[in-house]
Amino acid sequence: MSDLSALPRPEPRPGLEHEYAELGERLRGLLPCVEWPLHLPWIDAIRRLKAMRGATILAHSYQSPEIFHGVADVTGDSLALAEAAARCDSEIIVFCGVQFMAETAKILAPSRTVLIPDTAAGCSLAASITAADVRALRQRHPGVPVVSYINTSAAVKAESDACCTSANALQVVESMASPQVIFLPDRYLGQYVAAQTAVELILWQGSCEVHELFSAAQVQQTRERFAAQIVAHPECAPDVLAQADFVGSTTAMAGWLRKHRPQKVALITECSMADNLKSEFPQITFIQPCNLCPHMQRITLPNIYACLRDLQHEVTVDPSIAARARQSLQRMLGVGRRDRV
Ligand code: 13P
Ligand code: SF4
Repeated sequence: MSDLSALPRPEPRPGLEHEYAELGERLRGLLPCVEWPLHLPWIDAIRRLKAMRGATILAHSYQSPEIFHGVADVTGDSLALAEAAARCDSEIIVFCGVQFMAETAKILAPSRTVLIPDTAAGCSLAASITAADVRALRQRHPGVPVVSYINTSAAVKAESDACCTSANALQVVESMASPQVIFLPDRYLGQYVAAQTAVELILWQGSCEVHELFSAAQVQQTRERFAAQIVAHPECAPDVLAQADFVGSTTAMAGWLRKHRPQKVALITECSMADNLKSEFPQITFIQPCNLCPHMQRITLPNIYACLRDLQHEVTVDPSIAARARQSLQRMLGVGRRDRV
């Protein structure tokens, strides 16, 4: 992580509280109340620096509320942010998310400068497989197409036929028009897709270190104790998903809440997601069995500020890898979002 200990907190300008009254109101409901005055000077400084630089900030739904609500121009899941990067006309994109997402933005917007506030923001799924592993799988299964989850390195995407996210995994698999597909690296998403299709999936044994922490017993207790509806991300284990009232991607979960308006809900996914949704659904009680992604949490207001101030941590992808990875991503973008509720 970058050493930000020497970075002075920006001096608060007079009248800041008044200027940001509406945001303050929203964030006070989502954060411990002592935090708002600490975040405010950073939020103000980042917004002004962003305007000076003509930059766009993209933030994943797992980012902390002060980033998601305070400084982001575009928020969403992996697919929404990939689409936003592809059509972004700012010279500079600051990606508040993890490395594979920032790499995806660079591949889809090669002429832009893409910055990531902390280069160590990784992902257990992306780390679980290499390009050499994909080549070995292809040798073992000649002629079988490869679909890789977007949570992979650029080099793995380059070895794949198509990418997918949890918003379109089933449809991308079926679009390969093959009786067998190599699906990697998330074994749980793979099992979830396999249960819905006649296509035989050859799986890799990767998993998300955040979603695999949820247990079926914990979910059952949450339902019984709080009478909460259960909404889960397909990166969770099958016995967890079996207990859910709804399984879907990050965006589909929010869509399900909009449609069903439950009194109480437990989102079985990364914890910040519920924090970020609370302001849209003040009438819903969110039960939060809280698992935070340590990689997403590396992104902070001070390192976003430093990134914009010093134009640091530029994301680069070898052009020959990028060209092949772009084909896999474009095939996914052609399928689009299929997870509406
Ligand atoms: P989505 O944003 O595609 O729902 O993925 C969840 C996730 O784990 C991202 O890292
Ligand atoms: Fe990777 Fe899981 Fe973190 Fe998403 S939540 S970035 S899949 S480790």
